[in-house]
Amino acid sequence: MTESPYRTIIEPFRIHSVEPLRMTTRVERVERLSAAGYNLFRLYSDDVLVDLLTDSGTGAMSAEQWAGIQRGNESYAGAPSFYRFRHAVTELFPFRHVLPTHQGRAAEKILFSAIGGAGKVVPNNTHFDTTRANIEFTGAEAVDLPIPEGRDARDRHPFKGNLDVTALEQLLVHRGDDVPLVMVTVTNNAGGGQPVSLANLRAVREVCERYGKPLFLDACRFAENAWFIKTREPGYADIAVPDIVREMASLADGMTMSAKKDPLANIGGWLALDDDGLAEQCRTLEILTEGFPTYGGLAGRDLEAIAQGLTECVQEDYLRYRIRSTAYLGEALEAAGVPVVVPFGGSAVFLDARALLPQIPPLEYPGQALACALYVEGGIRACEIGTVMFGRQPDGSEQPAVMDLVRLAIPRRTYTQSHIDFTIEVLTRVAARAGELRGLQIIEEPPRLRHFTAGFAPLG
Ligand code: F0G
Repeated sequence: MTESPYRTIIEPFRIHSVEPLRMTTRVERVERLSAAGYNLFRLYSDDVLVDLLTDSGTGAMSAEQWAGIQRGNESYAGAPSFYRFRHAVTELFPFRHVLPTHQGRAAEKILFSAIGGAGKVVPNNTHFDTTRANIEFTGAEAVDLPIPEGRDARDRHPFKGNLDVTALEQLLVHRGDDVPLVMVTVTNNAGGGQPVSLANLRAVREVCERYGKPLFLDACRFAENAWFIKTREPGYADIAVPDIVREMASLADGMTMSAKKDPLANIGGWLALDDDGLAEQCRTLEILTEGFPTYGGLAGRDLEAIAQGLTECVQEDYLRYRIRSTAYLGEALEAAGVPVVVPFGGSAVFLDARALLPQIPPLEYPGQALACALYVEGGIRACEIGTVMFGRQPDGSEQPAVMDLVRLAIPRRTYTQSHIDFTIEVLTRVAARAGELRGLQIIEEPPRLRHFTAGFAPLG
């Protein structure tokens, strides 16, 4: 790899069309936040200046992707757009069956409807919230088995997303008959956006083989994961990113995927797998809920955008800029004394709200308090990943999450360095007055996935 002698992170694109942003005053933001029940998902996005809520579907498409939108073929069955999509997917993930879906959770819904059910248990390094919810909805249990380092915000393990292979084996010894498959999420989003090494994937694969269990990847951020393998795992520095991705795929029997992440599309996803019988079952479910298997809940033009995005997201100039610019934000916050999860993930920087706000106990939601403060201070929208998201148990009780984090997710190719510099300034200011922040209580919540819609009231 040739390293540039320059410090400035040069965005490997220039801007072709722009979306104006609206400035708001602090008084307006205080009022909008209260009207939204202190839940940032309930804000109008026009009232947000820098939107770091998610990196999902929020990336900027390239000129070639927009050209693909024009090429989209909307035939109900057998559209050429589907074949271009399938070709782009199988170039990287050569599974026998590829079922397009409208997004990642639709692939999860189909897969777990087919193989979940009461009494089953599905291990993962850390389940994303929709994965967990789709598993639990079938009556099955979702178990997180990250390595111990993955639960420690300050541990600098280079592959903190790794799955705890010993714990996996223990689970298979005790409940092997109940495990329909093993999942690994690359990168481990809910665990801090941390990568999984190929050595770990190989070890997981070996255990799966011994117990006769299929291994599925939740591969939303596979390209970023591959870049971390290239730059951190011994022996991969000279291997091309697409080859690393193919090696990851070769260890798995299938995948669920959201095209709204690394594939640089605004919508879409897929389920891919080798097992013919399971694929047949899933295709029947797909027709019920998504559509005919050559469009699966998407327009032909969306399939084109994904196909093109898949070729762009594995390019090294792009990945170098992507990972470097996320680290730029993390490094500046760390230098300013803001507690952050290290090493920095690919798609986001995670703030350790529990460490920054020790005066707020987990059940008063330090992450939510911090996210609200960032909005009021600078119109920045971030996402709590902590006790609001994970605290409610299937039996209705409430437990502190492993960590109380706030995720600053970076949309792909969307913001420039000045947006990020502004974000650093806002965060530094909020952190300087962290002692003044107070917690919240939940005043209304649905039984599942409460973080999207719950209403809060400030305490104190
Ligand atoms: N798996 C992971 C690891 C994810 O991060 C997501 C979505 C999904 C599955 C579901 O995909 O949104 O297309 O249905 N994550 C988004 C986020 C929403 O903000 O992290 P989807």
